[in-house]
Amino acid sequence: MSKITAAITAVGGYVPDDKLTNLDLEKLVDTSDEWITSRTGIKERRILKVPGKATSDMAVFAVNELLQKRGIGADEIDLLICATITPDLIFPATANIICDKIGAKNAWSYDIAAACSGFLYALETGSKFIESGKHKKVVICGFDKMSAIIDYTDRNTCIIFGDGGGAVLLEPNYEGLGIIDSILKSDGSGREFLYQKAGGSLKPPTHETIDAREHYVYQEGKTVFKFATTNMADVSTQIMKRNNLTAEDVDWLLAHQANMRIINYTAEMMGLPTEKVPMNIQRYGNTTSGTLPLLFWDFEKQFKKGDDIVLATFGGGFTWGSIYLKWAI
Ligand code: UT7
Repeated sequence: MSKITAAITAVGGYVPDDKLTNLDLEKLVDTSDEWITSRTGIKERRILKVPGKATSDMAVFAVNELLQKRGIGADEIDLLICATITPDLIFPATANIICDKIGAKNAWSYDIAAACSGFLYALETGSKFIESGKHKKVVICGFDKMSAIIDYTDRNTCIIFGDGGGAVLLEPNYEGLGIIDSILKSDGSGREFLYQKAGGSLKPPTHETIDAREHYVYQEGKTVFKFATTNMADVSTQIMKRNNLTAEDVDWLLAHQANMRIINYTAEMMGLPTEKVPMNIQRYGNTTSGTLPLLFWDFEKQFKKGDDIVLATFGGGFTWGSIYLKWAI
């Protein structure tokens, strides 16, 4: 029998209705539409404002959409992995809650927390259960409700992040389509540049941690920017080289939507023209685990079966990586 590869066979996505524009942010912090647009490419983000709704509620929309597109029931899912750093609860896993809400009675499920690389890490992990022959249907979700951990008095972070995400279905493929190669990296020594200072076992919540605003995202933007540009370009060019891909061969670069300048640098290093680099950062901002599946959701109509796609990301941890896949739908 020919080798089994893990192919994406359906895509779903979800962003909340409420928009937070650059003009709205001008009223909250000392910033401007011009600064945000020129430094990041972001014009607006979506915010989940409905009381009592969390990350799992957004994911439910996306998973139900992909099940409907593929014409299968939730009870056919073998495994569901949710990449998130804004779980509904510290425990149990948001993936468990999603499965309960959609009625995936036969699935086992767990979360992966790798910040902006979460979706790529989950895609890599889930693909192994398909390639090994153990499972036939694996759902990978990437969702974050970043507004839950953003300080809207901190202009260094509040201009960047938004809520939303997407989900993909992985199934076995016998024609050589699907995930071909991957490079995943992490370096925990970068943790102090992008993190949430309190709330974990190192610094459990106290009145003091709340007063010090330590439950919000802290980022040293310049440092993260420097590591992101170098490392995202490095893994993306590496994956091209070891798969003998020229810039002409690569049909699409789907890059984590953190900053338009980081994406443009990666594309330039790969030799790709802007037409091959779809972006939706202007509409959603940085949705952390959500950016890559949101790109699939927004642009899948432009992809053709057999297209060569390179995914690339960089985020907190530090974590980063690249995956090369052949589009199968
Ligand atoms: O997704 C996970 C990984 N995260 C990333 O990849 C994000 C990486 N970092 C970035 O995208 C960028 O560093 C930021 C968008 C966060 C910041 O852009 P920057 O070009 O690195 O700006 P900066 O921090 O170097 O600040 C430049 C200037 C400073 O003023 P001075 O010192 O030059 O007078 C800042 O105080 O811009 C000022 N500034 C702002 N001005 C208006 C910083 N934030 C703002 C703001 N509005 N929101």
